[in-house]
Amino acid sequence: MENTNKKITIAIDGHSSTGKSTIAKSLAKYLNYIYVDTGAMYRAVTWFALKQGLIDDSGIKRVQLISRLDEISISFTNISGENHTIVNDLDVEREIRGLEVANNVSKVASIPEVRRKLVAEQQFLGSAKGVVMDGRDIGTVVFPKAELKVFMTASADVRAQRRYNELRGKGEEVDFDDVLKNIEERDFLDENRKDSPLVKADDAILLDNSKLSRNQQFDHIISLVNNALS
Ligand code: DC
Repeated sequence: MENTNKKITIAIDGHSSTGKSTIAKSLAKYLNYIYVDTGAMYRAVTWFALKQGLIDDSGIKRVQLISRLDEISISFTNISGENHTIVNDLDVEREIRGLEVANNVSKVASIPEVRRKLVAEQQFLGSAKGVVMDGRDIGTVVFPKAELKVFMTASADVRAQRRYNELRGKGEEVDFDDVLKNIEERDFLDENRKDSPLVKADDAILLDNSKLSRNQQFDHIISLVNNALS
């Protein structure tokens, strides 16, 4: 039986478009925990860089972006049950989910100064425990002592199909092959960057959800949570 007074830290890491945030959000709601979408924070910095002309065809103006990181204040708000990402008082939720941000975010996330800023903010947000945080390095870097770590994956094709359906559902004109290419490129960049690459923590539980429904995944993770709480 779950001990309702004990609060733990839950780290959900894994590849892009594995449904980490959907699961993390429903877990947080069920447990009455805080939910932190760390990918949104990297996306927010990328959006800022694009908006300020710090990314163009020749790449990222790295030194300038680093010198302006203090100008970026990221927070979250709940609007009609939906999590919205706010950058300097502007709701950028829609913008950070588009392909332009997606195509540049892995490069921005590979900059150590960007990671240092965001990791410190994430550690602060989760400092009171009772948090579900999803990302790439939560179980390895942000909260290496998290009581429960889950590493989610699925085949690239399955993930691309899910992402394609989601973008189409939002009315974005996207091509399946572009979405697949973006997912494969992001996997490569995430797994091969020097600073905090995407890697499963030794003590994380692997969850390949290629053939699992959301309910099956949710039930499985809840049983892991109950174990961690007992
Ligand atoms: O989870 P997502 O697809 O919204 O994440 C966007 C990008 O941010 C992803 O390509 C990798 C990066 N990221 C990261 O490097 N570390 C995290 N903790 C979360 C995301």
